[in-house]
Amino acid sequence: MKIGLVQFKPHLFQVKENVERGINLIKSESADLFVFPELAFTGYTFNTKNEVEWVSENMNGFSIKAFKDFAISKKTNVVFGFVENDNEKFYNSSILIKSDGSHRIYRKTHLFYEEKLFFEKGNTGFWVENINGVKIGLAICFDWFFPESFRTLALKGAQIIAHSANLVMPYCQEANKIRSLENRVFIVTSNRWGEEINALNSNKFTGMSQITNPDGKVIVRFPQKGDKVKIVNINPEEANNKNLNKHNNIFYDRIPEFYK
Ligand code: ACM
Repeated sequence: MKIGLVQFKPHLFQVKENVERGINLIKSESADLFVFPELAFTGYTFNTKNEVEWVSENMNGFSIKAFKDFAISKKTNVVFGFVENDNEKFYNSSILIKSDGSHRIYRKTHLFYEEKLFFEKGNTGFWVENINGVKIGLAICFDWFFPESFRTLALKGAQIIAHSANLVMPYCQEANKIRSLENRVFIVTSNRWGEEINALNSNKFTGMSQITNPDGKVIVRFPQKGDKVKIVNINPEEANNKNLNKHNNIFYDRIPEFYK
């Protein structure tokens, strides 16, 4: 399976321009699944709920329509983060758009810092969807900090976790080696990069988008800076084997009664 790992820096609130730049970045590449960062085409550094509303989208929104057209015409699948507007409730969401134009939404479960001022807590829970016979789960940025997120996706059968991120702390890229190993799954962490300033508020994002495999190895990692795309061939079936040796299976060996 060919994964298109994307690292991207949007210009704050310039949704149309950002979507066009995003599509230009990948349009001559061929992959089964492209993964973009969290809030990929809006930017991240909000100061008011009005700003959040201004760049929010329902299912007829600009970025969703543009990437549906792209997915159908290129027969590919795309994941990206966006501001979801559901009857004036706003979610930090990620969408999986399939090659037939259908979609499924994941709403960020674990909100980070001031996101709590602007977004509703995600209420979709973690789900797994089949694309071309491969099981994909979605997670967003700070979800990584809670081992339950990726564990839940892995227990539901995810072979690949599309982890769209706007990482600001320095830990995730190293930590996700272990998240991949302890669940024996692929994690595709698509991060943004650079600094974003909105009045007195600013964020620095860490780049270093990467894919980790079920052995806990980084199979590709971008530098800290730069819009990038790389097509990486993986075998999702490597995620099916949960045996560490002939006596240890990481799922059968769990003792949930002691985890309460
Ligand atoms: C984050 O969850 N965007 C840090």
